[in-house]
Amino acid sequence: MTNAFLRLTGISKSFAGVQALRDVDLTIERGRVHCLVGENGSGKSTLIKIIAGVYQRDTGEYVIDGKNLARLQPIDAIREGVQVIYQDFSLFPNLTVAENIALNEEVAEGRRWVNWQQVRNVAADALAQIEVNIPLDVTVGEVSVANKQLIAVAKAMRQNARLIIMDEPTTALTEREIRALFSVLRKLQERDGVAFLFVSHKLDEVLSISEKIIVIRNGKTVSEGERDEYDRARLVYDMTGHSITEKSYDFEPDLSQPPLLKVENLNAEPMLNDINFELRAGEIVGVTGLLGSGRTELALALYGMQPIKSGRITIDQKPVDLRSNRDAIAHGIGYVPEDRLSEGLFLEQSIAKNVVVRTIESLRGSLGLTDPAKISGQVSQWVDALRIKTADPALPVNTLSGGNQQRVVLAKWLASNPKVMILNGPTVGVDVGSKEELHNLMKKLAGEGMGLLVISDDIPELLGTCNRILLMRNGTIVEEINTKETNENKISSKLIED
Ligand SMILES: Nc1ncnc2c1ncn2[C@@H]1O[C@H](COP(=O)(O)OP(=O)(O)OP(=O)(O)O)[C@@H](O)[C@H]1O
Ligand SMILES: [Mg+2]
Repeated sequence: MTNAFLRLTGISKSFAGVQALRDVDLTIERGRVHCLVGENGSGKSTLIKIIAGVYQRDTGEYVIDGKNLARLQPIDAIREGVQVIYQDFSLFPNLTVAENIALNEEVAEGRRWVNWQQVRNVAADALAQIEVNIPLDVTVGEVSVANKQLIAVAKAMRQNARLIIMDEPTTALTEREIRALFSVLRKLQERDGVAFLFVSHKLDEVLSISEKIIVIRNGKTVSEGERDEYDRARLVYDMTGHSITEKSYDFEPDLSQPPLLKVENLNAEPMLNDINFELRAGEIVGVTGLLGSGRTELALALYGMQPIKSGRITIDQKPVDLRSNRDAIAHGIGYVPEDRLSEGLFLEQSIAKNVVVRTIESLRGSLGLTDPAKISGQVSQWVDALRIKTADPALPVNTLSGGNQQRVVLAKWLASNPKVMILNGPTVGVDVGSKEELHNLMKKLAGEGMGLLVISDDIPELLGTCNRILLMRNGTIVEEINTKETNENKISSKLIED
């Protein structure tokens, strides 16, 4: 006998031609931590939106707290205690922390004049309830991602949350912030009996935090059970239908050849200090370090986005001056940013258009007209290579699942065929199966002569793909590690936060 809070049976949902969910069953138990896992495009976010009343299901039963709900709007779900914290947190960046937490109630109570003292009191009380300390009077736009999340949790608790759902909450957090978030959530679970449903692609995290696991594949429930019934291998198998063993990158670059990219004594704003390294054709070099170590700043400097104070950057033995990203692109440097969803895409435009946006000039014929056949050829090549899950590349990017949107950004850059490709967190938000495919693609591109610089805090990823790893701290490279002569523990211990 389970203590069910929410029970879904036989849920199906399709979007014009795409069956996103078919016959999904799911039980959420009171006061327990559940994880929902599945490949990119398997239907996780769609299921969450159905639970929240944002999407209407086509078929199936929805029973909450013993009540069978036929139709359900977001307000009904909230009334039943269902709170969803989306990746954008649905907060107002221009309002203060206090206003974001408290204002709904003021407005709901129909007060014409807002009592600011009361707003502050309500917000202070809400933050005290979840035992966190965030200044009330700064605007939400100014606080860290981790704090935004906690503000959203405080707000959810003000609205009497009994189930809090979070879609990939830890993607943009550091290890320390993840620990802090989960300790707050544990408290709510133990003290208030709140249930949680998380989506995550980090399988170690899933195994460490969950009490119950639900695996979906292709819109169907594959398995549902207690945490103890699962290990990493079973999760991978249930998600993908096969097991995965990745081979490391065994390519040896030709050291007699001059480097593709050479960086000497580079100093750049805001914090890069005396950076030296080389990247050869065919090499994959990792860059890691804790948040604030300067790894993203290094990428930005090489992409012409941070003012360079001194030093020398050479590409194919020619010194280059990188003052803007145009300069970088002209010299054959490509950069896939960490925050791809906000930096990389035209969401309303078609998948096809986004893929070719960088290369459209080279696809023009002699009359300056674009050749539709060439374009669609190139688009389908990349859609296939990256296995972008779509019914039709003419659909807008915002019809894709999160992980598939990320692949479009990668496709856009890879299609432009740079000499040096800088990838910042190339597989963040990507499921295990596709991660392996992306790694293979990176190895293939390197094998064809590209030089890849991969920024990541996923150590197994770096060990599995790179020849060397540059370890950064305080804006400089403190160690260059040959991946054949190290292991995960050795690198992790070098990275420990003090
Ligand atoms: N508004 C929409 N219009 C058309 N198709 C959609 C829409 N929303 C989702 N889909 C499709 O439904 C399927 C499931 O998508 P969903 O976003 O639920 O996946 P997901 O499991 O959350 O994946 P990810 O791990 O990549 O975030 C995908 O094939 C997606 O393209
Ligand atoms: Mg999703």
